[in-house]
Amino acid sequence: MSAAPTRPAPGPSSPVLSVRDLQVHFRIPASPWPWVPPNTLRAVNGISLELAAGETLGVVGESGCGKSTLARALINLVPRTSGEVVWMGKPLEPGDSRGWHDLRQHVQMIFQDPLASLNPRWTVEQIIAEPLHLHRPQLGAAAIREQVHEMMRRVGLRTDMLNRYPHEFSGGQCQRIGIARALVLRPRVVICDEPVSALDVSIQAQIVGLLRELQAELDLTLIFIAHDLAVVRHLCDRVLVLYLGQMMELGPCREVFAQPAHPYTRALISAIPVPDPEVERQRRPELLGGDLPSPLALPSGCPLHTRCPQAEARCASETPRAQAVDTSGLHLSSCWKSAHA
Ligand SMILES: Nc1ncnc2c1ncn2[C@@H]1O[C@H](COP(=O)(O)OP(=O)(O)OP(=O)(O)O)[C@@H](O)[C@H]1O
Ligand SMILES: [Mg+2]
Repeated sequence: MSAAPTRPAPGPSSPVLSVRDLQVHFRIPASPWPWVPPNTLRAVNGISLELAAGETLGVVGESGCGKSTLARALINLVPRTSGEVVWMGKPLEPGDSRGWHDLRQHVQMIFQDPLASLNPRWTVEQIIAEPLHLHRPQLGAAAIREQVHEMMRRVGLRTDMLNRYPHEFSGGQCQRIGIARALVLRPRVVICDEPVSALDVSIQAQIVGLLRELQAELDLTLIFIAHDLAVVRHLCDRVLVLYLGQMMELGPCREVFAQPAHPYTRALISAIPVPDPEVERQRRPELLGGDLPSPLALPSGCPLHTRCPQAEARCASETPRAQAVDTSGLHLSSCWKSAHA
């Protein structure tokens, strides 16, 4: 394996991919009952973000907060409602099918359920070769096969497995196949949508280790979506905390985990179990009250105000903007109580 390239400092110094004020809303069709009107589900609400070359950005938040929708909108797998996606300095319009086709060579995805994300009727070779047939058909069969072999070796699969089908593999091996398929085009950015949450704990560590190795070897920029904050802390340079499709906090992992600025981030971090049973017993997690509101009826003002232990009157009427809480300007929080730059 080649030496790891120098990692850039976390932060948006040289963005490869950025979004500005991204909104993704789903129109929920009218129900069979005429008195129930069609509704709009606001899955992503005004996310702005710059992804620096070589960094690993973690994306965390409760189930349904819009992590996958954000990831899919970045590569136009779901259409955005408004906002801008910029790839290497070039804004991509929703209808620019050529531009999105090109972007898909450079930005690939790894999915949560490894088996479900692989075509059950295709052999491993067909699955891994598909992106090459789609984007580099001029290569020819022998060169494609050679690249498939090389990718299999890199992800730790034996090349004598080429003619087997996905159901013949374990979850961890299926995820290795998914990783090989995502990396065979040598993309610059890989979006990992909960790539280990469906796997056994021991296998999770192997897959996270493999992703780290491949990131260094192939100079990848990663977006790592996860429920498990401990993995994000271990793996990521920066972390984006989402709640009801909005950014609560964004900043270098080290700072966010050491000094979470937003009450929501504090609640998430304080819920991470501590390995020491004695410490765990005495711990008092910062709890949020109530239930997660529906994205069909977002609360006014700060989306967290219905559950936030520190909410005050203005939180229900005014939406706090993300502001820097450190002097570098890299650590942002969308709570006015945390603004102390
Ligand atoms: N195609 C769709 N049509 C309608 N609503 C959708 C669609 N896709 C997602 N949603 C809704 O958008 C919201 C955000 O969903 P999303 O899958 O992005 O959340 P998530 O953070 O990835 O959740 P999880 O952690 O469970 O994967 C949810 O309320 C979900 O039901
Ligand atoms: Mg998801």
